[in-house]
Amino acid sequence: MATKKQRRGLTVPHDRMTVVVCRGGDCGSRIKHPDTDHAAQLAKVRNAAGDQSVVTVSRCLDACEHSNVIVLVPDADSENAGATPVWVGEVNDAEVTADILEVMDHPGDLPDVPVVVELHTFRPTRQSRRELDGEIG
Ligand code: FES
Repeated sequence: MATKKQRRGLTVPHDRMTVVVCRGGDCGSRIKHPDTDHAAQLAKVRNAAGDQSVVTVSRCLDACEHSNVIVLVPDADSENAGATPVWVGEVNDAEVTADILEVMDHPGDLPDVPVVVELHTFRPTRQSRRELDGEIG
């Protein structure tokens, strides 16, 4: 769980989707998820960013029970059209990671996401939403 001291505000461009990859402790932990190649996963997400999205690594989003957590934050146009951040949990295998990369290829489609991603979505707590706001400023 993040403490006030751990929080930091990152200014991210809002003209693109922001992909927030949690690496706060439980997310990215080889002890908790020994079968996941966390570094390779982050590299794949970063390589997929292109011009359509920006990737940022966050500290704990206070949703450790869902680790690894990735949040897909819509761009301003999508947000104005009603899209909200999509919280994806248990991103611990190649299949769900690949589907997140697919979403990154079509960021304007949020909140319509591939089935595997949809199966991994969860509703964040108010505290988790606050942590995300603190991360992306
Ligand atoms: S480490 Fe706590 S939500 Fe990712």
